[in-house]
Amino acid sequence: MALRTLATRRRLGLGFQSIRGLQTFSLPDLPYDYGALEPAISGEIMQLHHQKHHQTYITNYNKALEQLDAAMAKGDAPTVVKLQSAIKFNGGGHVNHSIFWKNLAPVREGGGEPPKGSLGSTIDTNFGSLEALIQKMNAEGAAVQGSGWVWLGVDKELKKLVIETTANQDPLVTKGSLVPLLGIDVWEHAYYLQYKNVRPDYLKNIWKVMNWKYASQVYEKECP
Ligand SMILES: [Fe+2]
Repeated sequence: MALRTLATRRRLGLGFQSIRGLQTFSLPDLPYDYGALEPAISGEIMQLHHQKHHQTYITNYNKALEQLDAAMAKGDAPTVVKLQSAIKFNGGGHVNHSIFWKNLAPVREGGGEPPKGSLGSTIDTNFGSLEALIQKMNAEGAAVQGSGWVWLGVDKELKKLVIETTANQDPLVTKGSLVPLLGIDVWEHAYYLQYKNVRPDYLKNIWKVMNWKYASQVYEKECP
């Protein structure tokens, strides 16, 4: 019965729901059509990435949370500890992809337009220029071994922009008091169907659909 309730609520497209006090998650809608980022990122990649990859992280995250809930109710400490890696990986996958979709925007909706306001001037101060920032992020993203992410974040304590990479699906919060402004997925599933093994070309083109407006909004909220 509980599972049927969960399935029904997922179909309603709610971002999360509470079952027996346990909060679970569902796939957020994309703010644009799958093909809207072409030619930078193909519609086929976007559809698979969203419907299959992101959905799988959510499914496995919910499963792990339900197992955690049961283990905690039984006081089963070894199982609680054992579940941490699945929660970090799949929960991180959900967190990271939820940010990633908002980091992108179709060109006709401002994708690729350079940041204005305080973020634009802080980038110039911290990195010299927007072009210098892009080159540094591309170099670090290309150098990620295996699968992971390259991030532009803001260190809230130091009020400074930082470039960081994380392995697998580790979210940026695993690196300290950093808030993500932009995250680029460098897993092969994000580019291989279109760019094959040439990750640097994917990194070069993704800036054409980067949603700097979103990054600026987060930055201004964190560093008013
Ligand atoms: Fe991904």
